[in-house]
Amino acid sequence: SGVRLIFLFAGAGASVSADKDPGRLLLLCLWLGLTGTKLGCAEGGCGACTVMDLGHVLPSDSPHPKLISHHCAVNACLAPLCSLHLVAVTTVEGIGSVARKLHPVQERIARAHGSQCGFCTPGIVMSMYALLRNNPRPSMADVEEAFQGSPSTLTSWRSFPTLQLVLGGRR
Ligand code: FES
Repeated sequence: SGVRLIFLFAGAGASVSADKDPGRLLLLCLWLGLTGTKLGCAEGGCGACTVMDLGHVLPSDSPHPKLISHHCAVNACLAPLCSLHLVAVTTVEGIGSVARKLHPVQERIARAHGSQCGFCTPGIVMSMYALLRNNPRPSMADVEEAFQGSPSTLTSWRSFPTLQLVLGGRR
């Protein structure tokens, strides 16, 4: 049987997807309908493909799988579908958009001109979003750990007010 993923998108509800190839990479699966997640290095180094997964599961034969509430930033370019069976995956489309309403992380990055060229911005947003879901008041060490996959972003942000703005004036 195929892998079942629970995609959270558009901020409203979930959809379930089935795939017969458990070795298929998550990013390729996402691109069938959600193109906000980008491909940069394809080897886990740049963070452009970052999405967030939520929790893990009770046995798959449970009639009501219960998700453990822990958010984790994941490189979609490296994650095979079989590693995400019954895991809820949130992409950048799931937290906000210009058409709907920007999430505060997106809005503050835009306001502080923190997106650089913009290509990897969805991954930056999702790294920060996952960090703040687990820890609403991260320390600078927490931020540095969360952005290990986006090293140039962190270096750039240190020079500008972006980080302070995104974190609500705290460092
Ligand atoms: Fe660079 Fe996935 S594309 S980490």
